Amino acid sequence: MINKLLGKAVMTLAGRDDFAIPKHDSPLFEGVDWDNLPRHVAVIMDGNGRWANAQGQVRTVGHSAGAKVLKNILKTAIGLNLESLTVYAFSTENWTRPATEVKFLMNLIYGYLKQELQEMHEDNVRIHFIGDIAGLPDYLQEEIRKAEELMKNNTGVKFNVATNYGGQDEMIRAIQKIAVSVQNGEITPADIQKELIEDSLDTCGNPPVDLLIRTGGDHRLSNFLLWQVAYAEFYSAEVPWPEFSPKCFVKAIKEFNNRDRRFGGLNDDKK
Ligand code: FPP
Repeated sequence: MINKLLGKAVMTLAGRDDFAIPKHDSPLFEGVDWDNLPRHVAVIMDGNGRWANAQGQVRTVGHSAGAKVLKNILKTAIGLNLESLTVYAFSTENWTRPATEVKFLMNLIYGYLKQELQEMHEDNVRIHFIGDIAGLPDYLQEEIRKAEELMKNNTGVKFNVATNYGGQDEMIRAIQKIAVSVQNGEITPADIQKELIEDSLDTCGNPPVDLLIRTGGDHRLSNFLLWQVAYAEFYSAEVPWPEFSPKCFVKAIKEFNNRDRRFGGLNDDKK
């Protein structure tokens, strides 16, 4: 039944031998400043449809290609020893796309989980889905629960997959949770501080986003991690997501290495 549902979304992700986790001394990491890495990188994987159309293919071909790229970027994030990698797989607004594309994406995420589950687990990845998971098809919810359960004690990269995710929706759900606690007399309005809000968001347990990458050339936030990117460095890559290689990812990391982050303050030499 599920295989039938998967339909054309079945993809052939490369096996373990295709792109291994790069080692610390890999040429890929040449020039990386290991003492100044982002703890949390978030990625808006944009440009799949345009990439596919440019080659005379249907949009969904771009999404399949994008899933393969995601696998390599996750491996690179592991090699860099990042604490968190959060990717935007499906937004609360993406439901307005044609039903065939929506179904394809649901099936693609399901297929990715099924195929990658064991390998991600062996790589010590801790997967977590953020967003309104209850709004996803039952078969996908079930696979998500399985994957999260399997990897819940892993200590490697926190891999957050934003699915049926919207930054505003996340805040609404967090505020509703907090309001219930106030209503029940567990906390008072004065207890509503930054930390409580962060603990009530889907990304609870992750550091704030340090680096936000968007591929595909647009310069928009698109309702992604609105609270968490407060002081993130923004990096726009012109290439569409299916062409975003580990090398492109490392280029963004190296640019981050050189950014002057002041968090609203001044550098010591300017005081
Ligand atoms: C935006 O590109 C991309 C999406 C809405 C889907 C992202 C999904 C993947 C990369 C698939 C892999 C994800 C997982 C978790 C397996 P777009 O097609 O809207 O770009 P466009 O601007 O060219 O139309």
